[in-house]
Amino acid sequence: MLPMTRFQTLVDDAVAAIDAAGDLAALNALRPNLVGKKAPLAEASRSLGAMDEAERKLAGQELNAARQAVQSHLDARTETLRTEARRAQYEAERMDLTEVRGELRRGHHHLVTQARDRLEDLFVGMGYTIAEGPEVETAWYNFEALNIPEWHPARGEFDTIFVNLGESEEVMLRSHTSPVQIRTMENTEPPIYVVAPGRTFRTDAADATHLPAFNQIEGLVVDKGITFGDMAGTIDSFVKAFFGAEVNTRLRPSYFPFTEPSAEVDISRADGSWLELAGCGMVNPQVLRNCGIDPEVWQGFAFGFGIDRLAAMRYQLDDIRELVNNDVRFLRQF
Ligand code: PHE
Repeated sequence: MLPMTRFQTLVDDAVAAIDAAGDLAALNALRPNLVGKKAPLAEASRSLGAMDEAERKLAGQELNAARQAVQSHLDARTETLRTEARRAQYEAERMDLTEVRGELRRGHHHLVTQARDRLEDLFVGMGYTIAEGPEVETAWYNFEALNIPEWHPARGEFDTIFVNLGESEEVMLRSHTSPVQIRTMENTEPPIYVVAPGRTFRTDAADATHLPAFNQIEGLVVDKGITFGDMAGTIDSFVKAFFGAEVNTRLRPSYFPFTEPSAEVDISRADGSWLELAGCGMVNPQVLRNCGIDPEVWQGFAFGFGIDRLAAMRYQLDDIRELVNNDVRFLRQF
């Protein structure tokens, strides 16, 4: 405890002023009047020069003690106000996360994923299993083994996106899911009943009915005594299960190098018109042979549907690009 000194009143005044400052800004404004050159205690030190030796020594000590008392009170008050300010700031910035809750929505699968899941379910229900293959393919799987040699005009019609790997036009993004037929037959003994859904790629510009990256679902059956009628019946029952019993299918003669005979699948629309949805046919005996399967013993059929088109048709989208615009206002509807 300091002895009562001649500077005590100045110290008391300073302490009172410090305690009266309500926040850091007010305290900082006071600071020059407490510890600066113009502070009363600094002014008082000037009076020391007029004192005699002994008195000056004593007064000097008292003055130092007084200055330290003011300084430490100022430091303590600064720390207190700083802590209070921080607490007030935290309080002001506090976020009530429960308020956000009303805004949160549970997400759901994309329209195309939903269609793909449903297609898988339908075929699994008919006894098929799911097969998969890579999205980057070699010319053998995407073309050659499917009976599309290099010189074949059909090769150009696939508008293939090639990958700059190996020899030119050797590696590509698969232009259809049909290479999975080959991979499956290479690895599986018949009887085979598989569907292979997945992404496919072509150089097509996006428009109302095309996407450069799209989805197909390939079907492949290899068994004994399989006929064109089995294929037509399978396709018709799956289309009816997917779209409803009122939707009809028709097959139109077509050509694919990997099926013989080949057909296009059309489905009936409410306005009486027909929409082209898939290619199909009996697996070409040469394709069976390419995979080491004896066409004298085994027959098969294959089909390839565009999943995006199936979804667009089922939900009556005018423009297939809606599927990839990622506008949540659109996607939330499904
Ligand atoms: N792969 C063909 C295409 O994408 C479709 C198809 C699959 C045709 C299976 C016949 C058999 O055009």
